[in-house]
Amino acid sequence: MIDVASTRAEVRPAAVAVVVDVLRATSSIVQALSSGYERVLCAASIERARELRAPGRVLAGERRCVPPPDFDLGNSPGGFERPRGSELILATTNGAPALVAATESAERVLVAALLNLDAVTAALAGEEDVLLVCAGTDGRLALEDVYVAGRLALRLPGPRTDAARAAECVAAHYPSPIEALRDSADARALAAVGLQDDLLACARESVIDAVPEAVSGAAGVAVVTENPETLTYANAGRSPLNTLASDP
Ligand code: MLT
Repeated sequence: MIDVASTRAEVRPAAVAVVVDVLRATSSIVQALSSGYERVLCAASIERARELRAPGRVLAGERRCVPPPDFDLGNSPGGFERPRGSELILATTNGAPALVAATESAERVLVAALLNLDAVTAALAGEEDVLLVCAGTDGRLALEDVYVAGRLALRLPGPRTDAARAAECVAAHYPSPIEALRDSADARALAAVGLQDDLLACARESVIDAVPEAVSGAAGVAVVTENPETLTYANAGRSPLNTLASDP
């Protein structure tokens, strides 16, 4: 079954969850991993992100679209085009907690944006139990996430729920990604703080091949990488999960 969770409160067990926060968290994650960050540690709270701070780690994120004062970077995808360290710690209002929630329920969690739409579609080939998770905004449905979920649902075969059908109708309504993104309340919130150019960065479609995958880390953290096999590391004892477990 192809289903859509319109906010993270609707996350439930599924074979594959695909988390979407196109403005801007999942766009930033896709950009960061394709630019050379080895991992993104998504923190469910600003406080958890601060605890993870360490040499080689870059602290990024937002509250009300702007970076907290002690953070190295905000949440603009363009800020991640050149890695400033090997790992990115990302604390955002909705996207990062949605990823943490998904890793606690689904067997596999993929990270989707418009940037990697084709690559995610290919990665879902043969999957029959797919939950497209819209991060939403402050617990409410976000139009731009539903649009991207609908774009993905339209590409997946098999039976679908009414929520997936509704997302498909939203996707079919817009002639182009930028029109869907611009129509959203989150676009207006970004414009209000001068970040309207981030819309253009997030509206680019299928320009990145990476399909980031997330696993649950220590409490309140999802570890995201392009190479999920490196997250098992049973051999070396140097797992990022072990590292996280020993973090403060
Ligand atoms: C979020 O996680 O809520 C966002 O990505 C918001 C933002 O980028 O400003």
